[in-house]
Amino acid sequence: MTPRSIIISSTGSFLPEKVVTNDDLAKIVDTSDEWIYTRSGIKQRRIAPKDMTTSDMACIAARRALDAAGLRPDEIDLVIVATVSPDMMFPSTACMLQAKLGIRNNIPCFDIEAACSGFVYEIEIASRMMQSGYYKHALVVGAEKLSSLVNWEDRSTCVLFGDGAGAAVLSAVEKTGVGILDTVLGASGEGNMILSLPAGGSAMPASAETVANKLHCVHMDGKEVFKHAVKIMQEKAFEVLDRCGVRPDELALFIPHQANARIIESVAKRLKLDMSKVYVNIQNYGNTSGASIPIALDEVVRSGRVKRGDYVLFVAFGAGLTWGATLIKWY
Ligand code: UT7
Repeated sequence: MTPRSIIISSTGSFLPEKVVTNDDLAKIVDTSDEWIYTRSGIKQRRIAPKDMTTSDMACIAARRALDAAGLRPDEIDLVIVATVSPDMMFPSTACMLQAKLGIRNNIPCFDIEAACSGFVYEIEIASRMMQSGYYKHALVVGAEKLSSLVNWEDRSTCVLFGDGAGAAVLSAVEKTGVGILDTVLGASGEGNMILSLPAGGSAMPASAETVANKLHCVHMDGKEVFKHAVKIMQEKAFEVLDRCGVRPDELALFIPHQANARIIESVAKRLKLDMSKVYVNIQNYGNTSGASIPIALDEVVRSGRVKRGDYVLFVAFGAGLTWGATLIKWY
């Protein structure tokens, strides 16, 4: 087989127009801009309109990525969507997206559910599939309408999340040692209930009681999740760097999952990275779960902040628990 690398050849993103500030939320729950900002780094988030679905947002982000790559939808060989807020339990959001974009029928389209680590997971899945030689261009998308899963009466969660979508086109190139260098993934089902959405599945099918008790909404033990996130994100960052023989000080850019500015700062500190090398946009969008890294990546790419040869690190952590880190040599 011809030696090949898998590169990120383009990106796209979509954020709904509606901005909801911390002060707006202070009108509906007992909170304040000061509490939200100092605990999480969030100033505002975007909220999608009622009639806009996760696949609608994914579709706009994906079109932008395809345009940036100069590719037609029929040139895509694989579609993966990372989401915890699919349009519905099934069919998959990836199949919805395929239909909306007019992508051809004889290619695999599927969702993965790895929560906030979803984008890193799908990069690993897509790039390994592409190594086979059967797929030249893959569309990988993280899209979330978390506003539809949040209990708007629970101040401990509703202030944290937002809606949006990010997309990337991965392409196989006949070159070695560029693009996605390596990914480490992991999970621990033991910590599964510290971040969950308990009802609506086979364990607790929808009923009047589950609805009344808000069991179709996000439940989180924030403190526990925080502790695990700080520890594991830095460990995985070191692990992937080590496997590639790259030192933290050689990184041009660190793009972490945007869950909490304090988590990001603490991981950056352990990597001894100056914050100028760390991309943070949580103040604008809150936590958009699987969409957070691809949205950040699109902003970085479009602002010209990343150039050929740069080492770029993604690290994510989320429900499952799941985690992952990817090192890229930008091409
Ligand atoms: O993306 C997936 C991964 N998710 C994460 O990584 C999230 C990780 N966790 C966190 O980011 C933080 O734990 C939070 C931002 C969620 C919370 O920060 P914290 O410093 O851990 O606060 P806490 O949950 O311990 O709450 C402290 C206090 C409590 O009051 P008492 O019990 O000390 O009197 C809460 O009731 O703050 C109270 N509180 C609030 N007060 C004002 C909780 N939410 C709010 C709120 N406004 N929105």
